[in-house]
Amino acid sequence: MRILVVGGGGREHAIIKSIKKNPMVEIIYALPGNSGIARDAVTVSIAATDINGIVNFAVDNEIDYAIVAPDDPLVMGCVDALNAKGIPCFGPDAKAAIIEGSKVFSKDLMKKYGIPTAAYETFSEMDAAIEYLQTAPIPTVIKADGLALGKGVIIAETREEAIDAVKSMMEDKKFGASGENIVIEEFLEGPEVSVLSFTDGHVVVPMISSMDHKRAGDGDTGLNTGGMGTVAPNPYYTEAVAERCMKEIFVPTIEAMKAEGRTFKGCLYFGLMITADGPKVIEYNCRFGDPETQVVLPLLKSDLLTIMQAVTEGTLAYTDVEWMDASACCVIAASEGYPTSYEKGYEIEIPADVWPNTFVAGAKSQGDKLVNSGGRVLGVTAVEPTLKEAVAKAYEMVDRVKFDNKYTRRDIGARALKAIEK
Ligand code: AMP
Ligand code: GLY
Repeated sequence: MRILVVGGGGREHAIIKSIKKNPMVEIIYALPGNSGIARDAVTVSIAATDINGIVNFAVDNEIDYAIVAPDDPLVMGCVDALNAKGIPCFGPDAKAAIIEGSKVFSKDLMKKYGIPTAAYETFSEMDAAIEYLQTAPIPTVIKADGLALGKGVIIAETREEAIDAVKSMMEDKKFGASGENIVIEEFLEGPEVSVLSFTDGHVVVPMISSMDHKRAGDGDTGLNTGGMGTVAPNPYYTEAVAERCMKEIFVPTIEAMKAEGRTFKGCLYFGLMITADGPKVIEYNCRFGDPETQVVLPLLKSDLLTIMQAVTEGTLAYTDVEWMDASACCVIAASEGYPTSYEKGYEIEIPADVWPNTFVAGAKSQGDKLVNSGGRVLGVTAVEPTLKEAVAKAYEMVDRVKFDNKYTRRDIGARALKAIEK
């Protein structure tokens, strides 16, 4: 089979490393991929948002199956465009990807179908939003409606901060058209759990749960980042919580999308908060999470490509999705200064025994060397019988990866380990 993967980060590298295990796979193209991914796939410099370029490439190269991983091309209709040329894809069409593409849509969906989430109001006029904030409970959460590179959520601790956030989105247009409409919602508290799921629109099969570490600094301090590390499974996602999520959130969401004529096929990501009132949805993503994928897929016992094809064909109910009875930890090696400003171009050395566990996010070639080109450079994942061992092993490996100005959080998994010990 000739496979095409759209995207170019650590998540895509993890997908490619899993797909490669299927003996039917003849060649994998990554568009655009990166120079680390180039060691595992053929990279082609076509941007993930160049829908025409992607479709033309797929047709010219007789692609049998495409996997569209990032949110932008999904929301832009990359799957629709490939399907129109007869190319089967993993990923939702644009109509379904709106579950991530518009927060106003997803909040209204949850309200309409009684899916637990934070209470909220939506606004398209700045004055009305500011008026509402005069009496709204504080802290409060302001969200830009559209995609905003994961930065469109502001948690305001004071009324002034909340008003500034609204102005930055609606007056200064910090997120462009994404901030034309906004959601103001109740601030929730509790541990966060990420649950990625496979769904073919008929059934939903949750993957193993995971925990992201979004802040740049140890002890969850500093700025929000794209994710500094992950562990799986997430100890807060107990069997009782999982049962409630299935009944109150996962199945109702799939059914709601179907009822709206927006059947979702692909990976639906549930960002959950386990509150005192039970699990609630913080956000939906229409795709695999990054860096959640880097701990979830290494724990998958079944064949990923087979599952993906079953999702496309609507036969997921008859397909094995089995997980290892083990734990995984991924530590991200970033460049010092990320997410604000950082230097690029330093040579990266990855020991040969660490390479199979390495997922490259931001690197390019300089001669035959690999040099860092992004804030998040790579992630290293360990799979071990226990979480404690997985954390220790992930650090042992990532500490042997060398590049100048390398920065890793030192406490990935610490909160999860504490929860297990309790
Ligand atoms: P998002 O960009 O939607 O993933 O949101 C970023 C982060 O903001 C989430 O991972 C949560 O930690 C936090 N967050 C979002 N919505 C809420 C909320 N209603 N209450 C508390 N924290 C939230
Ligand atoms: N790790 C969160 C996300 O992919 O959105």
